[in-house]
Amino acid sequence: MINLRLLAAAPQQSIQLIFSPAMENAGLEGAAREVGDMRYFPAEKLVLFSLGVKEKISAEIVRRAGAAAARWMKKNTILQAGLDLNGLAAISLESGSAVEALLEGLLLGGYEFGLYKSDADATEMEVALVAPQPASYERLVEQVKVRCEAVNLARSWAHEPANVINPVSLAARVEALAAEEGLKCTVLDDQTLREMGAGAIVAVGQGSATPSRLMVLEHPGQDPDQAPVVLVGKTITFDTGGYSLKSVDGMVGMKYDKCGGMDVIAVLMAAARLKLKTRIIGVIAAAENMVSAAAYRPNDIIRTLSGKTVEIISTDAEGRLVLCDALTYAQREFKPRALIDLATLTGGVVVSLGSTRAGLFSNNDALAGSLFASGESTFERLWRLPLDDDYFELIKGNDSDMRNSSGVRKAHAIVAATFLKQFVSADVPWAHLDIAGTADTDKEEPYSPKGATGFGVRLLLDYLAGLE
Ligand code: BES
Ligand code: ZN
Ligand code: ZN
Repeated sequence: MINLRLLAAAPQQSIQLIFSPAMENAGLEGAAREVGDMRYFPAEKLVLFSLGVKEKISAEIVRRAGAAAARWMKKNTILQAGLDLNGLAAISLESGSAVEALLEGLLLGGYEFGLYKSDADATEMEVALVAPQPASYERLVEQVKVRCEAVNLARSWAHEPANVINPVSLAARVEALAAEEGLKCTVLDDQTLREMGAGAIVAVGQGSATPSRLMVLEHPGQDPDQAPVVLVGKTITFDTGGYSLKSVDGMVGMKYDKCGGMDVIAVLMAAARLKLKTRIIGVIAAAENMVSAAAYRPNDIIRTLSGKTVEIISTDAEGRLVLCDALTYAQREFKPRALIDLATLTGGVVVSLGSTRAGLFSNNDALAGSLFASGESTFERLWRLPLDDDYFELIKGNDSDMRNSSGVRKAHAIVAATFLKQFVSADVPWAHLDIAGTADTDKEEPYSPKGATGFGVRLLLDYLAGLE
């Protein structure tokens, strides 16, 4: 883990990290000149990280360089290093600031989930951020810290296995977090959900020893009467597929099927810490999809909270079921100005977009445009896919209003989004992000180790900041 500290001058004899565009003659002298005035750094050792060709430097390149520095420090057990903020500030980017991107790279790249490793590297490293007037950077540094801590919380909770995090234990964690961060928290248990008529979220969890929970986190913002932005997260703490059982290989990694919900929790934590003016509500729809004598089955017909009935074709298409009740609840309870759900919803989106972009579906061009733009600037990139009514043909019901899966290999990601669309009223600006391909990674990424990436947290925070 890396801690940041703002200082007016670097401690003597520390290691100084230098980020510089590549130069034909990459002598240190030239690099130093390039990044600015060195007089604040009586460093013992200067470590140069290249930002590549000057004309091509982008926020993402700087972010990756920050992560490279974090990895280098970890590898070499460097406990302390200095970093010249003024030098960085001199690097101009098309969008955003180099200081911000670099600090993000350091904090995200320095992340590791070591909770269950006996030989975990618990070393606390520190980067001293040096600027002649440190106070002028205080706000920015604080904001980056909050954002990255949120991403890293989403990662850490997602990494927790299903024998630790289940819907019931998650609710306790969320309540504790809410108390700590000053968020309002409501937890609806399975009994309450059943009485309320939320038959879909109850059905998915009914085969589990730890039944479903619907959690609501509220950040009041400046005006608690304002129509809120509501974020809904798919939170399947483990997805075996149920009776439509997943294959041995397909099941491994399904602890990450709760990533949508972890993102929502993290964003609400950050919203509270950043004191965002916008009213924001998080709805976390949690269930564990298991096999048991009590589990739901193919051909079961369930009545959702909306009153619409669904015939189960695949018990493995459970995400859309917990989400449809959560979406209905969100609209009834909060009359949102924007409704955004995040879900590791389909293998289909992984086939379409891989791990490079997440699927974006929306009934509102302005909302889709804002989210797309936030995706570009945070490098949590999205790509919009269609939602034509024609797709509903594939899941039209026979004995029920609709089916939860088409049973054929056509347009899986779009069909899942079309299912959700049936539960959203046309006048509510809604977007669905299918993050199945981006929520976790099986190889190390530039600023994410193997496992949960926290994809979506920075994107949503950027979108919310744009509403201020
Ligand atoms: N959790 C999975 C989607 C998933 C697959 C996430 C791979 C991450 C990686 C979801 O619940 C699921 O099983 N979806 C099925 C739906 C199908 C049965 C209609 C799918 O996409 O194959
Ligand atoms: Zn599934
Ligand atoms: Zn799932």
